[in-house]
Amino acid sequence: MLRIAIINGPNLNLLGKREPNIYGSTGFDEYLDTLRQRFPAVKLDYFQSNVEGELINHLHSCIGRAEGIIINAGAYTHTSIALADAISSIGVPAIEVHISNVLAREEYRKTSYIATKCVGSISGLGLEGYALAIIHFSGPAAPNSAQIS
Ligand code: DQA
Repeated sequence: MLRIAIINGPNLNLLGKREPNIYGSTGFDEYLDTLRQRFPAVKLDYFQSNVEGELINHLHSCIGRAEGIIINAGAYTHTSIALADAISSIGVPAIEVHISNVLAREEYRKTSYIATKCVGSISGLGLEGYALAIIHFSGPAAPNSAQIS
């Protein structure tokens, strides 16, 4: 079974309540239930933390436990060389997801330290971005597709 680790960073525990005009009114736990129903053949592991080091430790723990990582690093996207190093150190392909269109917002959101370490980025498509990343990892173009089948 394809194993995908979904990792959400700071303030994403408040999804549904936080700035709903930008991030929508659905909480991530509720959305995760719909993802699990929609992709029954994929094992979806979920981790969220507001702490940079915990995100790094969790990325390390994905070695040998996941074929793909979907990461929304929240504001650490724009600041964290340590998270970028962790992604490039573990050898597990990662897709960066942002719920909002970071390129259409403040200047400081236009820089992503993790983007160059990821196989791709999805931004501005709402929570659907997570589903699109799962579809990519499930398909023939996925970096680990040989291991998946
Ligand atoms: C975000 C965009 C980031 O700039 C912001 O700091 C977040 C959420 C998004 O999903 O759109 O916390 O990653």
